Amino acid sequence: MNPVEFIRKKRSGQTLSRKEMHDFISAYVTGEVPDYQMSAFLMAVYFSGMSREETAAFTDVMLHSGRVIDLSSVPGRKVDKHSTGGVGDKVSLILAPMVAACGVPVPMISGRGLGHTGGTLDKLESIPGFRTNLSIEEYQRVISETGLVLSGQTEEIAPADRKMYALRDVTATIESIPLIAGSIMSKKLAEGIDALVLDVKTGSGAFMQRYEESVELASALVSIGRAMGKETIGFVTRMNEPLGTAVGNWCEVVESVECLRGKKCPDLMEVTYVLGGAMVFLGGKASSIEEGMRTCESAVWSGRAYEKFLELVRVQGGEASYIENPGKYPKAAFSPRVESPASGYITGFDTRLIGVLATELGAGRMSVDDDIDPKAGILFKKKIGDHIEKGETLAMIQTDRPSRGRPWEERLAALISIGPEPPERTPLILSIVDGEGAKPWGGS
Ligand code: URA
Repeated sequence: MNPVEFIRKKRSGQTLSRKEMHDFISAYVTGEVPDYQMSAFLMAVYFSGMSREETAAFTDVMLHSGRVIDLSSVPGRKVDKHSTGGVGDKVSLILAPMVAACGVPVPMISGRGLGHTGGTLDKLESIPGFRTNLSIEEYQRVISETGLVLSGQTEEIAPADRKMYALRDVTATIESIPLIAGSIMSKKLAEGIDALVLDVKTGSGAFMQRYEESVELASALVSIGRAMGKETIGFVTRMNEPLGTAVGNWCEVVESVECLRGKKCPDLMEVTYVLGGAMVFLGGKASSIEEGMRTCESAVWSGRAYEKFLELVRVQGGEASYIENPGKYPKAAFSPRVESPASGYITGFDTRLIGVLATELGAGRMSVDDDIDPKAGILFKKKIGDHIEKGETLAMIQTDRPSRGRPWEERLAALISIGPEPPERTPLILSIVDGEGAKPWGGS
């Protein structure tokens, strides 16, 4: 393999074979190909793109750069969900125990929050004692015993992606659909799944803000999943306001537990039931997504989903007493109230900047080594379309950090728009992407 010829071939828009990509990427993992040649290759992909077949081969090479977990001893079709991430996106915490309670095993390897988006691992780690750094053997044992597992990526999973992702971050090559698709799918396919449901977010708080780009990413992800022999269904869902009412770590766990115990949280549970319904359908426990949604609803109303969550917390070392009695959790030093500057209707949120503000409160990281304060976060009292009076509470902030300069509450109030008329209602689940392409989501 001649690295210069390999890079030149991609630079001139030609298609690379699986063998060529395997030889180049393997040499990168062992250090024979240096960062500067990989950077040039990544930039060539950024500009020249990859065909669908090439993207699938690229994903396969990344997947096999590490270990693929064997869950064949766990009975049933194993199904996971992946979300491209957003603000207040706590769906996995509710969905995984709910789907497991319907009899579909859920192996889930999640990530940490970075930038303005939150991460499932940080939320779980806000539960005192909860361990997410499971070895592959522990991961296999937990899913065999409880029917679900929520863990972090180990060194053995897709090591090529770990090294390339860090390089992409500093070479302006993150925003490439084949590179994103290969990165996400190589990690998901290593989990030992039989099928996958994808939630590609779109809107002001999403990684991909434009609807057309989100559909393109969803289609690329679904096509790779199917090319790799896994049934895959994608949804494009709106992320133009925080999902649910809590943004942070512990406060999102509390909101998830309330939903698992039957609290009504319309937008959050709409997304959770649709994704869960698709998982139960792909897991063979329902004959349609709609029937899967009804199965999920009964798992919540019967209390089985909540019991499954408690079981998971105990098995992964967490102190379940905090879940049963959230009031005993330590409180933040400051809790300023954000009051409405005007009367009218909530017309919009600058969701990305709300995620950034939550990070500054201590709920997220500015760089990978930063510590997180699990208590930090925001509790919203209003959603888009709600009416509010001047002086009424818009949100409550929780933080140990005093604001430097402009008070926290003033900064948050400036990110919420209020107008005289209610905004037009728009659907939350925009489209479904399956083997036949993208179409508007009409189920409910
Ligand atoms: N998430 C990933 O895991 N990889 C990407 O490239 C982008 C988002």
